[in-house]
Amino acid sequence: MGMTAHAMAYEPPDLRTAHVIVVANEKGGSGKSTLSIHVSVALLKAGFRVATIDLDTRQRTLTRFFENRASWAADAPWNVELPYHHALDRGNSKNLRDNETAEFGAFATAIAEVEHEYEFVIIDTPATDSYLMRLAHSLADTLVSPINDSFIDVDVFSRVHHDRSQRGQVAHYADLVLEARRKRRLVDQGIIDWVLVRNRISSTQSNNARQIQTSLSRLALELQFRTTEGLHDRVIFRELFPIGLTPLDPIEGAMRSNALSASQVSARREVDALLASLQLPQRSLGMVHLQARHEWFDRISRYYREMKA
Ligand SMILES: Nc1ncnc2c1ncn2[C@@H]1O[C@H](COP(=O)(O)OP(=O)(O)OP(=O)(O)O)[C@@H](O)[C@H]1O
Ligand SMILES: [Mg+2]
Repeated sequence: MGMTAHAMAYEPPDLRTAHVIVVANEKGGSGKSTLSIHVSVALLKAGFRVATIDLDTRQRTLTRFFENRASWAADAPWNVELPYHHALDRGNSKNLRDNETAEFGAFATAIAEVEHEYEFVIIDTPATDSYLMRLAHSLADTLVSPINDSFIDVDVFSRVHHDRSQRGQVAHYADLVLEARRKRRLVDQGIIDWVLVRNRISSTQSNNARQIQTSLSRLALELQFRTTEGLHDRVIFRELFPIGLTPLDPIEGAMRSNALSASQVSARREVDALLASLQLPQRSLGMVHLQARHEWFDRISRYYREMKA
């Protein structure tokens, strides 16, 4: 439809609807998939429309989790919430460029499928640098990077010197995020809220953990991220994976006991606190946008009808 200058004068509303949460960190095994799983299930339980995308075409951890969950759902006595899940396939060409093109196409399709229908899109990513990874980063409204209490983990954000007061050069992953931010600002003035989430926190507070907190708070200013308490190291965060459940689910039955265990209670509290600290937008922002778009289109079609009359 050709638009006249007059019709264009209506301010277009924000056409994006879904809030995109990307879970990423170059460091392998830091807890990306574990956080993706728990954040997704928590948002589903809160009643949001949730879509999930697995960019880890090799390990497919998130995909396997939801497959397990779907088969549990088949004969569970309660309603087992499931997201709309999209797993990206690996490009199977020998030509790297062809694979990149195919993967980009698949990713763009996955996003287009869900961005207007779902309130949250959660993207789990692999621990590798690729074109697709960079693209995913620049789409993030909230970027969640799990980090363990180890200087090895801090190192991917900034080189750590023996003399910890000496400022390091910006490390590769941090550089990737800063670049994604720059791109994002150019595209839609969007802001990426970068949150470093502590994971596998040990229950004994160590001197090491305190030193790491100090290093991180110094880096936080420079790289513009915030840190938040995440999940403790608990068996319950990993043992339910084969049946596709989480401590947020009514697992008492599955675990053949009647009462909530102490670790389940603590785990639930940690996931709740994590969600609160992510400061995600409130319910139905997506719907507000959708409605605004419909009204905008209505106004334009009314304008054209009146022109004709
Ligand atoms: N809070 C936790 N408590 C207990 N175990 C955990 C916790 N977080 C992660 N793990 C375990 O640590 C291992 C790595 O976690 P996970 O697979 O989530 O990391 P990842 O960053 O997705 O790894 P990859 O880079 O390979 O994709 C898994 O065995 C997982 O079960
Ligand atoms: Mg993973």
